[in-house]
Amino acid sequence: MRMLNLGAGPKWKNPDWLVLDHKIMKRRDCAWRLPFPNEHFDIIFSSHMVEHIPHSKIDEVLFECNRCLKSDGLLRLVCPDLEIVANAYTNKDIALMERFIVEDPTIRKDLGIGGSFMNFLISNGSDSLLISRNGELIAGYAHLYAYDFEMMKNLLDRNGFKQATKCQFLESSNKIFNEPLHPTNQPAEWRDECHWASYEELTGFDRDPLTSLFVEAKKDFIPEKRRSQFGAPSVRGLDPINFSFRSMLYAFFTFSGFKIKRTIETKGEYFFNLMQRIFKRFVRSFKL
Ligand SMILES: C[S@@+](CC[C@H](N)C(=O)[O-])C[C@H]1O[C@@H](n2cnc3c(N)ncnc32)[C@H](O)[C@@H]1O
Repeated sequence: MRMLNLGAGPKWKNPDWLVLDHKIMKRRDCAWRLPFPNEHFDIIFSSHMVEHIPHSKIDEVLFECNRCLKSDGLLRLVCPDLEIVANAYTNKDIALMERFIVEDPTIRKDLGIGGSFMNFLISNGSDSLLISRNGELIAGYAHLYAYDFEMMKNLLDRNGFKQATKCQFLESSNKIFNEPLHPTNQPAEWRDECHWASYEELTGFDRDPLTSLFVEAKKDFIPEKRRSQFGAPSVRGLDPINFSFRSMLYAFFTFSGFKIKRTIETKGEYFFNLMQRIFKRFVRSFKL
């Protein structure tokens, strides 16, 4: 069996699985550009990654999963469930939202229940960078979108999958997914992250049972590729004609400045020692 964990994160380990995560790849591989041949995998699993994908790229991600799966191959997706978190917000169920925050302590609390709800949809992070039209760097982003089952089913159907099914936590058509995400040095049972003792590596699959949507589908047919990348003429948000070259150059130079400044701040001692060594060598060679 060939199996892929897409967006596994740098600490996830399982010798039976291949892992692809844009934070650990050296090349330009990412979820919408999988470096694998057609019909290569029996199973693809992806947990809490699709909400990090810009919505204009999600069709390409599912197209790639379809391309790399064998016929009837299994795709299991886990992500925050828009319906669950939206219900907690519209019902103003503060007690429930507080339980969600125990499950995911990174969720913001400073703006009340609305801020916590929005954090499931959009959050800061380091997966995508937002640049204003006048070339100003705004922030890096993690969550960019959220899905309920109906949205996910529509996306799966149009990208060549069949039998899209909403599952429960640990419920699957394949018993391999019986094991929840957990540190490798701790029991194979689900506990909120705050109860994990210190660890080096993670393994297992499903996580965050209170807030997650669990969906499985099988590869059915090869769909037509939906091209939605930046550069598409007359498409809102994707047409480069609406952005100026000068602004993007400004963004590039501002970014380089910030990056150099932060690198010197964090690796200052290293740079100082390097300069000292170069200077000493220069003085020695001059004396000779
Ligand atoms: C919230 S973490 C989830 C990690 C793990 N799957 C889990 O459930 O604990 C999201 C992961 O998706 C990865 N990711 C985000 N966008 C990606 C992309 N375009 N291609 C590949 N990996 C991506 C991130 O690097 C990060 O490790």
